[in-house]
Amino acid sequence: MRAKLVAGNWKMYGSLAANLKLLTHIKEAAAGLRCGAAVCVPFPYLEQARSALSGTSVAWGGQNVSEHEEGAYTGEVSAAMLQEFGCRYVLVGHSERRALFAESDSTVAAKFAQAQRAGLIPILCVGETLAEREDGVTAAVVTRQLDAVLNDSGVAALSRAVLAYEPVWAIGTGKTASPEQAQEVHALIRARVAQSAAAVAEGLQILYGGSVKPGNARELFAMPDIDGGLVGGASLVAEDFLAICAAA
Ligand code: PGA
Repeated sequence: MRAKLVAGNWKMYGSLAANLKLLTHIKEAAAGLRCGAAVCVPFPYLEQARSALSGTSVAWGGQNVSEHEEGAYTGEVSAAMLQEFGCRYVLVGHSERRALFAESDSTVAAKFAQAQRAGLIPILCVGETLAEREDGVTAAVVTRQLDAVLNDSGVAALSRAVLAYEPVWAIGTGKTASPEQAQEVHALIRARVAQSAAAVAEGLQILYGGSVKPGNARELFAMPDIDGGLVGGASLVAEDFLAICAAA
């Protein structure tokens, strides 16, 4: 059976003082967690996450990474830099990055490859907008986003990666996909990977993201192809994040 993973995405929230409270709570609970757990924090707080979580079962990571290895790219952060700060994970292709920062499928594929080259585990986010769902192109959109990475890095690369299905219409909106809606897309993603490599598909952790809360986590995580959650808003509240971990 695949292990469950709950990853928090703090987005552009936090302060040294607020993080300290949150991380202290998480650290205190870490020994009792029976799922994988991680927090993806803003770059300036990586050192704070490292000092709070080192030696615990909770991992930390970034929310973005440069598609370039190094060079004159003012404002960018490389995968090797994240690795130096002890990151295990990095989000790539979050829908906010795709929509607000114009990240294309090929940019996301390049970021995925850079992350793996530095030994990080990319959490590749895919998902359709509301308009795309209403147009009936959910499967096509998710497949296109996944294929961009498969074609660039090869299917074996997915054995060192995590997928996250995040319907854009469910992110930060309080509207969760129903467990059945999410399961349908998770199964589709796994089947797509299985076309190239059944064993890779079987081992691939596919997280659901989009308004995961303590109240809906359990039924989502009970679906056969949902292997945990990528949690935004609720990951900023220690009790909620830990309750979601308990559900996993
Ligand atoms: P949300 O965000 O849990 O606040 O909907 C999820 C995400 O953006 O990863």
